[in-house]
Amino acid sequence: MSGFRWWQDAVVYHVYPRSFADGNGDGFGDLYGLLDRLDYLAWLGVDAIWIGPIYPSPMVDGGYDVTDHTDVDPRFGDLAVFDRLVVETHRRGLRLLMDWVPNHTSAAHPWFVQSRSSRDNPRRDWYFWRDGTGDRPPNNWRGFRGRPAWTFDERTGQMYLHLFLPGQPDLNWNNPAVVEAMHATLRFWLDRGVDGFRVDVIHCIGKHPDLPDEPAALADVDQVSIHDHDGTHALIRGFRQILDSYPGERMMVGEVTLRQTSAVRRYYGQGDELNLAFNFLSLDAGWDAAEWRELLDHVPSELGAAAWPTWVLTNHDTVRHRTRFGGSVHRARAAGVLLLTLRGTPFLFQGCELGLADAEVPPDRRIDAYGRDGSRAPIPWDGTAGHGWAGAAPPLPFPPGSDRCNVAAQVADPDSVVHLYRRLLLARRGSPALRRGGWQPALTPPGVLGYRRVYRPDGPDGSGTDLRLVLVNFAGVPASVPVDGDWRVEVCSQCPATGHRFRGELGPEQALLLAPAGRPPIR
Ligand code: NOJ
Repeated sequence: MSGFRWWQDAVVYHVYPRSFADGNGDGFGDLYGLLDRLDYLAWLGVDAIWIGPIYPSPMVDGGYDVTDHTDVDPRFGDLAVFDRLVVETHRRGLRLLMDWVPNHTSAAHPWFVQSRSSRDNPRRDWYFWRDGTGDRPPNNWRGFRGRPAWTFDERTGQMYLHLFLPGQPDLNWNNPAVVEAMHATLRFWLDRGVDGFRVDVIHCIGKHPDLPDEPAALADVDQVSIHDHDGTHALIRGFRQILDSYPGERMMVGEVTLRQTSAVRRYYGQGDELNLAFNFLSLDAGWDAAEWRELLDHVPSELGAAAWPTWVLTNHDTVRHRTRFGGSVHRARAAGVLLLTLRGTPFLFQGCELGLADAEVPPDRRIDAYGRDGSRAPIPWDGTAGHGWAGAAPPLPFPPGSDRCNVAAQVADPDSVVHLYRRLLLARRGSPALRRGGWQPALTPPGVLGYRRVYRPDGPDGSGTDLRLVLVNFAGVPASVPVDGDWRVEVCSQCPATGHRFRGELGPEQALLLAPAGRPPIR
C-alpha cells in the first residue's frame, strides 16, 4: 500500500466556521466552538478538517473578502486560539486545512486601499486598473453569476477588475511583488503547523496582462466558469514548491470550477501542481442512477491514473444534496453510502452527516449576496430552543426539523444518519479496497447503480486482496439485483443491522455496502 499520501486515504470534513459552533455566545460560530466540537469530529471518524476563511474581513462574501491573510478575525478568535486548534486537531490524529484566498482581497485590504489612492501609488499595479466606463468597461468579461466584473472608481477615474463582488478586487499575479507577498502568507500558516490549504478559485489567478475580450459567443458567460489561463500553472507550481519544502506532508486542494474533467485534470500538472482538485460535476448530478453511472465512468477515464479524484455532494455554495435530491431522507442516506465508497477523496460538508436539508431563509434574514444561505444555516447541536447556541441566536434560521434532527438526538440513536456515516467511515478506514482500490461497474438493472471496489496488493500470492460491492437503488420501488458470489451486508443505508447475508433484494432508495461473506461484521 506504499506510495499513497494521507490526502488520498482521507475523508475531509468541511467546516463553515460562522455556522458550525459558537463558543463565546455571540451567535457567530468561532474557533472556540470548533475546539469544543473536535471530539465529535474525532468520534465521527473523519481524517481531516477544512475550515472556511477565518481571516479579518468585512464579510461581504462570507469571509472570502480578506483584509489580512495573516491574522484571525476577532469574531472567530485570535492567533492564540488558532494555535491551540492546530495542537488539539493533531492530538486527535486529525489534519487541518486552511482556506486560502489568492484570487482577490477585500477592497478594505490595505494593499487595495493604497492601490486605489492614486495612479502612481507603488501598489497601483497589484490590482487590475484600466480605463473604461460603466457603458464601456475595459473588456467584455462577466463576473460570477453574470454580474459586472468592473467597477469605476471616482478618485482616480479608472475601473478595477473583480470577478466577484466590487468589494473583492482581483490581485494582479503578473506582478512579482504580489507573488512574493502572497507566498509569505502561505508560509505564515505552514509555519504555524497547518497541513495544507483549500485554495479558493485557483483557476482564476493567472491572467493575460492585456485582459483580452472573450470571443463574442462567451461574452455573457460568467468568467469564473470559463477562466483557464495558462499562466496559472506556473503560479501553482510555485505554491507547490513552498508546500513541498516543509517537513511532513503538506498539501493543497484547489477549487477549479470548470465543469469539464479534462480541464480540471490539467491543474494536477505533472504531479507538480495541485495535490487534489475539486471536480464539481458531482454537484450537478441529480438523483438518477444513469447520470451517476455516466459520471463515474467518465471521471476516472478523463483524469487518468495519476490524478486522484475528489468527490463532493454539497458545499457552502450550493443547496444541500438532501434538498437537491428532492428532500427524502432515504435518498440523503443512500447518497452518504455513495459518497463514502467512491474511488477518490470525499469532502463531507458539515451537517450532511445529520441528513440536514437547506434552511428556509426569509428575505429579511438573508445574508449572502448570491442567495446561498440555505446550506449555511447553523448546525443544531441539541434539541433545546437554542440548539446548543448558548447565547445570542445565530442570524440564520436552523434547518427544518432541528428539534429532532440534531447532533445530540442523533448520537443517542443508533438508527440515525450520523451513526450511518460513522459506520461508513469505520468501514472505509478498515478496507483497503474502499480507500485505495480500483473502481469497476457492476451489472445492475435500470435504476440501480452498482460497483465493485477492488484492492490487489503487489505481492506474489495475492494475499491481502480486498473487495467490496456497492449497490444503490435510486428507484422508489424495491429492486432485485442478482449478484455473483456470497455477500454480507457491511453497511445498510436504512438500518443499523450488519452482518446478514445479502439475498439479492434492495428496498426503495436503499443503498448497501457489501463485503464478501466470511469476514467478521464491523461493530
Ligand atoms: C468560492 C467560494 O467557495 C465562494 O463562497 C466565494 O464566494 C468565491 N469563491 C469567491 O471567493
